[in-house]
Amino acid sequence: MGEKNPSAEGVSLAVDLGGVRMKNPVNTASGTFAFGSVFEGFFDVSRLGAITCKGCSAEPWPGNPAPRMCEVPSGMMNTVGLANPGVAAVVEQNGAYLAGLEERGCRVILQAAGHSVEEYVAAVELIEELAPWASGVELNISCPNIARGGALVGGTPESAAEVVRAVRPRVRRPLLVKMAPVRVPEVARACEAEGADALSLINTINGMSLDVRTRRSRLSRPTGGVSGPAIHAIAVRMVWEAAGAVKIPINGMGGIATWEDAAEMILAGATSVTVGTANFYDPTCAERIVGELAAWAAEQGVTDINELIGAVEC
Ligand SMILES: Cc1cc2nc3c(=O)[nH]c(=O)nc-3n(C[C@H](O)[C@H](O)[C@H](O)COP(=O)(O)O)c2cc1C
Repeated sequence: MGEKNPSAEGVSLAVDLGGVRMKNPVNTASGTFAFGSVFEGFFDVSRLGAITCKGCSAEPWPGNPAPRMCEVPSGMMNTVGLANPGVAAVVEQNGAYLAGLEERGCRVILQAAGHSVEEYVAAVELIEELAPWASGVELNISCPNIARGGALVGGTPESAAEVVRAVRPRVRRPLLVKMAPVRVPEVARACEAEGADALSLINTINGMSLDVRTRRSRLSRPTGGVSGPAIHAIAVRMVWEAAGAVKIPINGMGGIATWEDAAEMILAGATSVTVGTANFYDPTCAERIVGELAAWAAEQGVTDINELIGAVEC
């Protein structure tokens, strides 16, 4: 277990996310917190248990054309398409800050993306070589597999297992797998069987939003990923299903915007709670949730937040 971090209420908030030892359970979601440094203008980012960086691939990816984002009731949609400058440029531009953040006590999780098993392997090999300071590597298996007509890499237990199996021996640090919100219990079991140390879920849910005057999609693509409070209840259900299916810890996300949302995820079985879309409109949200979770745990009469993980009484 990680170093104890007694809060003002005397509650220990430290959690162990499959070997990523976090001083508190609060993390940030890939693609919604950039590489952390821009949020230093709002709060001391090292107060968080961890941050998860934007997904990066071995080679630069341009992503999809604009418009890439739009608002929908209680959330947003995006079709960013994993635009990123590639692992080497990400490390060159952000490595000093991220290594320093690790020294300040906040765990850094780098995320790898790919369009094929070979591309995932190339991305994690570069991360292993260039970013030894990161505490964990997260594999985003919600990417489309180009060779299979764009079917999600993590869309079936078989395809998820294939990529985790190829990557696992090449990652010497804790390996998290970021799941798509499909076939959750089966894909979760497949990733665990191939050696994943933790599971992150959920990624965005595919949706569609139309401008009825132009009769066109409000994004550059017909469909996009829905995120934010609109998907929270679905995410809690999927975290609960995953937690019931595997023994490895769950990094829960999907519409977390308040401490109650985070507490729900913990009760459903999440070891860590990850703030995504809320960072865009409430940039101090994640930091606030750290203290508020401690207060909730104290109110629940526990001295260690771990006592509340999966403590739902259905
Ligand atoms: C603009 C945007 C970019 C995202 N980029 C990534 C990404 O690079 N990799 C990934 O696994 N998820 C990505 N996500 C999904 C989030 O990490 C998260 O799983 C999802 O948004 C659900 O959480 P939320 O409702 O709190 O935002 C992105 C989400 C948004 C809104």
